[in-house]
Amino acid sequence: MNNGLEDVIATETRLSDVDGEAGRLVIRGLSLDHLVSTSTYESVAALLLDGLTERRFGAAELGKWLGEMRSGLFAHVTVLDTELLALPPVDAMRALIAHLPDDEDFEAVLRLLAAPAVFLPAILRMQSGKEPVAPDGSLSQAADILRMLTGQLPSGEQTAALDAYLVTISDHGLNASTFASRVIASTRAGLTSSVLAAISALKGPLHGGAPGPVLDMFDAVGTSENARDWLGDALDRGERLMGFGHRIYRVRDPRADALKQALRPLVLTAQVDRQQIELAEAVEHAALTILKERKPDRPLDVNVEFYTALLLDALGFPRESFTGVFAIGRTIGWIAHAREQALEGRLIRPRSVYVGPLPEAA
Ligand code: ACO
Repeated sequence: MNNGLEDVIATETRLSDVDGEAGRLVIRGLSLDHLVSTSTYESVAALLLDGLTERRFGAAELGKWLGEMRSGLFAHVTVLDTELLALPPVDAMRALIAHLPDDEDFEAVLRLLAAPAVFLPAILRMQSGKEPVAPDGSLSQAADILRMLTGQLPSGEQTAALDAYLVTISDHGLNASTFASRVIASTRAGLTSSVLAAISALKGPLHGGAPGPVLDMFDAVGTSENARDWLGDALDRGERLMGFGHRIYRVRDPRADALKQALRPLVLTAQVDRQQIELAEAVEHAALTILKERKPDRPLDVNVEFYTALLLDALGFPRESFTGVFAIGRTIGWIAHAREQALEGRLIRPRSVYVGPLPEAA
């Protein structure tokens, strides 16, 4: 038995593959490098959904439908009351999504792709005492998210950076939240249920809850010179360094480099705090050195969450919302896997080894 199911093959999928030794992510036959340099969120979403719904469509059609869906969903934010707004953003977003019908048709797919993109910016604005901004269905999903967040049309570099982020995190093999989505889909419960279960799995700090704490770490480290001492003390206290390590990757997470690359135009055009980037690079360098010294038998490298923190911070998302933004991007992966499971899979029902007392002994 493998306690964390490592190396257990639980399903076949045509959607994505994570090669932990080579540090390679393949989505529908295309490498992440290729996808990030050639695709938009809408085109990756169309690629992932290919053959998994009753409709055939391209990126442009999907973009138009998502825009219409975003506009239609805006009315749902009126449900947000003081009790919901007191929750962390990802929990408030999950609560709003739970109001949606639990269908499995194409409209449900569009609804669930558009909903987090509309709900999270509205929640963030209302939590800071501002009016929510209605979607502009003519924009791309990335541009509209930023516009709904800030109330202003984003720059080309900002839109491209968020789009690259959404592409980069669209799917990633059988991670914990995607597995949760497939388990729910295997019971035929409905797509909303799959997405809700996946968000619930994602929010933990060992999965998608890490990037906020990455920024907390930068704040606590304070200066580049302090990085090594601070990280050493954290490891002495038995803490894990957020943004490092991965269950599958034994080398650098390729998504970290894709996001570092996506940050570059913002750095070049001074749309990001240079000092923060320099501090991050010092922390990364010190962490890699110290992890190698302390855990020589376990290759621990930077993961996606490290540069996620820098990128989302640079785009103006508050750190407590990072998990919610991750969910906006990963929902396409969860839905594609849920559809694949529903169409091709069986009820997922593993077994456990009972180690409690037997009736005579009890
Ligand atoms: N910092 C310090 N030590 C670490 C770290 C880390 N970030 N990650 C793993 N280790 C150590 C463990 O303490 C353990 O040491 P030990 O054998 O001396 O006890 C050893 O490396 C092996 O760790 P495991 O728990 O077996 O690794 P696992 O594959 O279960 O964990 C995980 C992967 C959860 C991502 C882990 O590396 C971690 O906690 N990282 C920090 C949180 C983080 O960045 N999460 C985001 C992951 S990316 C994503 O899900 C989107």
